[in-house]
Amino acid sequence: MSADRPTSTPDESTVVLGIETSCDETAAAIVMGGNDVVSSVVSSQIEIHADFGGVVPEIASRAHLEALNPVIARAIVEAGIDEQRIDAVACTHGPGLIGALLVGVSAAKSLALAWDVPYVGVNHLEAHLYSAFLEDPTLEFPMVVLLVSGGHTMLIEMQDHGRYRLLGQTIDDAAGEAFDKVARFLDLGYPGGPAIDAEALNGDPDAIRFPRALSDDPDNLDFSFSGLKTAVMNYVRKHPDVSSADVAASFQMAVVDVLVTKARRAAQVTGAKGIVLGGGVAANSLLREELLGACAKDGVRGFLPSRSMCTDNAAMIAAAGWYRLASDGPTDLADGAHPNLKLPLIRFDDADGGVADRAR
Ligand code: KG4
Ligand code: ZN
Repeated sequence: MSADRPTSTPDESTVVLGIETSCDETAAAIVMGGNDVVSSVVSSQIEIHADFGGVVPEIASRAHLEALNPVIARAIVEAGIDEQRIDAVACTHGPGLIGALLVGVSAAKSLALAWDVPYVGVNHLEAHLYSAFLEDPTLEFPMVVLLVSGGHTMLIEMQDHGRYRLLGQTIDDAAGEAFDKVARFLDLGYPGGPAIDAEALNGDPDAIRFPRALSDDPDNLDFSFSGLKTAVMNYVRKHPDVSSADVAASFQMAVVDVLVTKARRAAQVTGAKGIVLGGGVAANSLLREELLGACAKDGVRGFLPSRSMCTDNAAMIAAAGWYRLASDGPTDLADGAHPNLKLPLIRFDDADGGVADRAR
């Protein structure tokens, strides 16, 4: 630990190095005081995996190994600080690909040991919830977070730092997975989310009425996207001449419609002061526009982290690490990587009426 800095109780001047290697981005960032992003470097493996149409775990691990040291070095240089100024090292320790996670965790623990500073293992999902705080630390609780990424689709009530209640989640594919699969089917390239987002700009979102699953019961805040993906495939096979821009726009409208309707309902039943987006799909243009419009109508605050903070990055890892260091202290160096790590949830107390207990 750097001489004069008791890092188990972090403050505004505590400097955290964040490291992220859970999937296909190798990232490092320097964040001060939990929300001041001094540097953030992201090296994407998208081009390496593009030929395969998805992330190949073994290739991802090797690419992380090659990229990580230079990425960390760049984050420190861009921050303009000496490494002795770093008070703690935070790294995603789950969920994610085991080989990929181990690259980051091993590096983070080695650096923490070498620098004699605390190591903090960070939950990647919790870090996505924290990306909003990087841009607005004054966000008020309780708030609803719609976490939509390649692997997860969750509606969470964040009651306070570290206090999460699961209101709903996908029962099959994640929203990002649906974007990726439909884009692959339409031959729009990888990753599918940005490709569909761009293609949809030239299409009519009302051209085809695709199904909105699990929307009959307003109290059901779960999602299902696998039927939608199949509906798109069946439609295109039946209408081979359909414009792919119309399919992309109509598919995107169906996903966004369900996400926004359920996020709104979640804010109503919990009395949340605002709705915040997180995860890669939160970069989607239509989702951003529709969510803000819905929040304005309902008189709740809508907060959209910038696109670069929505997709995987290490600034959010450092931010979540700062809060975890404050609440739980350092993580034991004997702790490893946890590919199936879940968000730490509190029990649903049934006080909000209607919404079933999903905090399993
Ligand atoms: O959070 P993230 O960067 O990685 C995970 O933790 O999964 O999310 C990646 C997902 C991918 O499925 C990608 O297609 C999707 O986010 N995505 C988008 C957009 N940008 C990224 N989906 C829809 N529209 C976008 N603009
Ligand atoms: Zn992510």
